[in-house]
This record gives sequence, structure tokens and C-alpha cells, in this order.
Amino acid sequence: MLLSFQQLKLIPVQVSHPPRSCQLNGEGTHIIIGGTGGLGRSMTRWMIKHGARHIVLVSRSGSQDIKVQQFLDEVHGTAAVQVIVCDVADEGQVRRLMDTCSKTMPPICGVVNAAMALHVSSPPSDACRNIADPV
Ligand SMILES: NC(=O)c1ccc[n+]([C@@H]2O[C@H](COP(=O)([O-])OP(=O)(O)OC[C@H]3O[C@@H](n4cnc5c(N)ncnc54)[C@H](OP(=O)(O)O)[C@@H]3O)[C@@H](O)[C@H]2O)c1
Repeated sequence: MLLSFQQLKLIPVQVSHPPRSCQLNGEGTHIIIGGTGGLGRSMTRWMIKHGARHIVLVSRSGSQDIKVQQFLDEVHGTAAVQVIVCDVADEGQVRRLMDTCSKTMPPICGVVNAAMALHVSSPPSDACRNIADPV
């Protein structure tokens, strides 16, 4: 796409190579860290639509949430989707996760991280004073 800032109008350009459709490996296992969350569930739907057939959703609390239960019911029959409890901030738990997957699932072919921890806090008042009134 080419933009002209002079005349403020779009100039259409023919795309010579349209993007190819995505086809995921249906033989391997995809791991989605935080897969039980909103983003993870949405991504799982997309991945199944594009050929993924073995998916592990990783979370600390597992499948207790009603939304997760409903989601597993929704995707039942379209792919083998299972929830495994694991805190990915704990190396030992991650090692156990990899061990379980390698013993019980097809080879891992993709890992997606859809989990993140945010800590929002106010800086100490001294820090604010130093920024506002440097020496
Ligand atoms: N949704 C959006 O539009 C959007 C946009 C930009 C950025 N983000 C960021 O993307 C991330 C995912 O968004 P979301 O809406 O899907 O959030 P969400 O619904 O809170 O899902 C987060 C998932 O991550 C899991 N999780 C968190 N810490 C974990 C850990 N240490 N080990 C394993 N699993 C862990 C949670 O399960 P447990 O609590 O059971 O562990 C949950 O399943 C968030 O950090 C968000 O800030 C989201």
C-alpha cells in the first residue's frame, strides 16, 4: 500500500503474492502456555481450524473454571485438547510437563506463550521526589 500525504488519498496497489493460507502440523503436539485464558482459548480455536490436532493447554489452576470446561466441551471431537497443570515459572514443573508430554503425546512441534504476569505498583515516595526534584 502506498500513501500520499500530499493529496490525502489511498493509491490502490495490486498485491502480486497474496499470503498463503496457514496449515499447522496435525501430527505433532502444540503447547499453549496460558491456553486456558481468553487469548489461549481463542488461539486454540484458530489453531484447530488450521489443522492442529494435539493441543496441550498449560495453566497453574487447570480446568476448574467453568469457562474452561465449556471450552473443552466445545472443542471435543475436533482435536485432542487436554489441560495440564503447571506453573511455567517453576523449572521443576516445566521439566515434568515436558516429560509427561514426551511420554504421552506426539512429538512437540510448537509452543505458544499466552501467559504473562504484570505487577503494577507505585514507586516509593523517595523515588518520586528524586525524579521530580533531582539534586
Ligand atoms: N486479551 C487481550 O486482548 C490481550 C491483549 C494484549 C496483551 N494481553 C496479555 O496476554 C496475556 C493473556 O491474556 P488473556 O486475556 O488470555 O489473560 P487471561 O485470561 O488471564 O489468561 C492468562 C492465562 O495464563 C495462565 N497463566 C498465568 N501465569 C501462568 C504461569 N505462571 N504458568 C502457567 N500458566 C499461567 C492463566 O491460568 P492460571 O491462572 O490457572 O495459571 C490463564 O490461563 C495476559 O498477560 C494479557 O495481559 C492480552
